[in-house]
Amino acid sequence: MLKSDDEIKRMAETCRIVAEVLEGIKAQIVPGVTTGELDKAVESAIRSRGGRPAFKGYRGYPASVCTSVNEQVVHGIPGSVKLRLGDIISLDVGVQYRGFYGDAAITLPVGAVSTQAVKLLAVSERALEEGLEKCRAGNRLSDISAAIQRCVEAEGFSIVRSFVGHGIGRSLHEEPQIPNFGNPGEGPELVPGMTLAIEPMVNAGNWEVEILADGWTAVTKDRSLSAHFEHTVAVTKNGLNILTKL
Ligand code: MF3
Ligand code: CO
Repeated sequence: MLKSDDEIKRMAETCRIVAEVLEGIKAQIVPGVTTGELDKAVESAIRSRGGRPAFKGYRGYPASVCTSVNEQVVHGIPGSVKLRLGDIISLDVGVQYRGFYGDAAITLPVGAVSTQAVKLLAVSERALEEGLEKCRAGNRLSDISAAIQRCVEAEGFSIVRSFVGHGIGRSLHEEPQIPNFGNPGEGPELVPGMTLAIEPMVNAGNWEVEILADGWTAVTKDRSLSAHFEHTVAVTKNGLNILTKL
């Protein structure tokens, strides 16, 4: 579903809310804060900007932000868990505003973290950047996937298979699905007007994940650390527009 320049402008307004909310929450990532408190802060930051938390109620998901700590990969549910010094936490925020969706995620350290965690965060963020580099008209969809996988595996980490990036726009999830692994040169050609959410999930150990009994929280099977970075972007004739970047 290709977007016009005007529609991309409107999506940029939604995505700006996502970016501002993530930026605002950074100061609250301190030892002792509960993930439930972070959820409250995210929800009020979204609503005070006129947006609606896109994840709340989506297939029954109960919160405004996904908070995935340490070995949790994605879709962690906020609650009474307190952050501790040395944890890492992934924060995934989706907003609907004036008919359009935006979706982004970051992973942050809680104070000083292990050398391995520092490297995991750096490599995961770089994997997203290298995927975004490939979001250009004329490339093929799997060029994004291959660039992300190459970056992650070159550093000895692994890329999660069972969750993918996605098209986004008037729905949170649109075609196409965007795996974070694969061979380059496959899938549809990228053309101006495509709006995509690119979201690598990177494990320090094996790529396999399992879902906890709450039906949502994905954790690494080997309980190694995991990180998640995501941006919503638009492919335009003038190059890439990273809509969830401030
Ligand atoms: N970024 C994730 C996605 O695109 C977050 C979804 S959380 C959910 O699917 F609760 F909405 F499922
Ligand atoms: Co997403």
